[in-house]
Amino acid sequence: MELPVGMVKELIGPKKPRLAEIELTLFENCDVNCAFCGHDKKSVVGLSLEEMLSKLPLIAQFLDKMDKDISMVNLHLVGGELLQDRLITSERNILNDYQILINEYQKLCLERSIEPRIIIVSNMLTTKRELIKEWFKEMNKAVYMRFIASYDLYGRPITKQYLENILFFKDYISNINVVVTKEAIQKLHQGDAIFDQLYEQFPIFMDDFLPDSWTQHMIPSDEEYLSYLHLIASKYPKLMPFGEAMAKVKTSQLNEIQFTTFNKCNILPNNMVTNYLWDRHNPENFVGKVNYEDNSNMLFQFLESNQCLVCEYYVSCPLRCPVSWSWKDRERSSGCVNKRFFDSIFKLQV
Ligand SMILES: C[S@@+](CC[C@H](N)C(=O)[O-])C[C@H]1O[C@@H](n2cnc3c(N)ncnc32)[C@H](O)[C@@H]1O
Ligand code: SF4
Ligand code: SF4
Repeated sequence: MELPVGMVKELIGPKKPRLAEIELTLFENCDVNCAFCGHDKKSVVGLSLEEMLSKLPLIAQFLDKMDKDISMVNLHLVGGELLQDRLITSERNILNDYQILINEYQKLCLERSIEPRIIIVSNMLTTKRELIKEWFKEMNKAVYMRFIASYDLYGRPITKQYLENILFFKDYISNINVVVTKEAIQKLHQGDAIFDQLYEQFPIFMDDFLPDSWTQHMIPSDEEYLSYLHLIASKYPKLMPFGEAMAKVKTSQLNEIQFTTFNKCNILPNNMVTNYLWDRHNPENFVGKVNYEDNSNMLFQFLESNQCLVCEYYVSCPLRCPVSWSWKDRERSSGCVNKRFFDSIFKLQV
């Protein structure tokens, strides 16, 4: 069953996030090749200043149609890798182009009385950190700008340079992002000293993995996901979003859905605008009908399938990423994994 666009929002009511997010992927180009990342790292689409500026009308359209009760808008500037060394040279320093784009974005925000917040997502492998930090300092005089630094337990190069950069940029890092693959869960169980250090120093968001057809072997089964939730409960209670959710379940506090669907847009390098999926994603890989512009029916299917609206944990549950959950070819168990998890930690204590 499908609901008309907009009705799912009504259904979710107070759990709808009040944070809007624009994920602006300027280009896919990257000089490394992480095992779980489906980008075309050789692509040059989107690299020119002209292409970057062509995203501004799309951003303006989004700002004008987002819900009126939004309290904050984050612009995530993403690649590919925006800070790769070969893009910051004496011939062309791409930071200058980002700066022009950000200045223009600031104007769009000002016209709409929105406070601009810019988040740059990076692999933290740059060797040009002094220059980048100077740029960050200058930019922050006029606009709030921070990093999300990615870390992964598997499939991403974590070098000496990375570890030094994380410390060097510490004050500008708002959080660390980790992708929950099958391999990452295995590694987390085995223990990972770097992860443990980062856990002490930064907020860490554990993001659901969205595969491509050639990486689908990396999507965790429901049982693996459950074992990962148990690990959070026993060892990493500060991890977002499930650590926070456990605390909220305990006191029946309202928790917004944590893998955003509403008031979120993805602007792709070729100027296609989606609600998370990429044009390379094949509808056949998903359960149910795929609508690139609005994935709220995937959320609806998730809610229906798990009977969330009558679940005792509904108010506090972060749910799951409905798009990743809708991936057809993954091992499913009967019963909701989140519910089995909450039952096991809260029911046994009563
Ligand atoms: C595509 S990367 C681009 C930015 C930068 N190059 C980096 O690695 O942080 C943006 C974020 O998406 C995450 N990511 C990559 N592939 C993913 C996937 N298949 N599913 C979910 N997140 C993914 C990365 O770990 C990173 O945090
Ligand atoms: S560094 Fe980022 S863009 Fe590059 S391959 Fe890894 S996840 Fe993809
Ligand atoms: S615990 Fe499961 S069934 Fe209950 S609200 Fe969360 S996702 Fe839905």
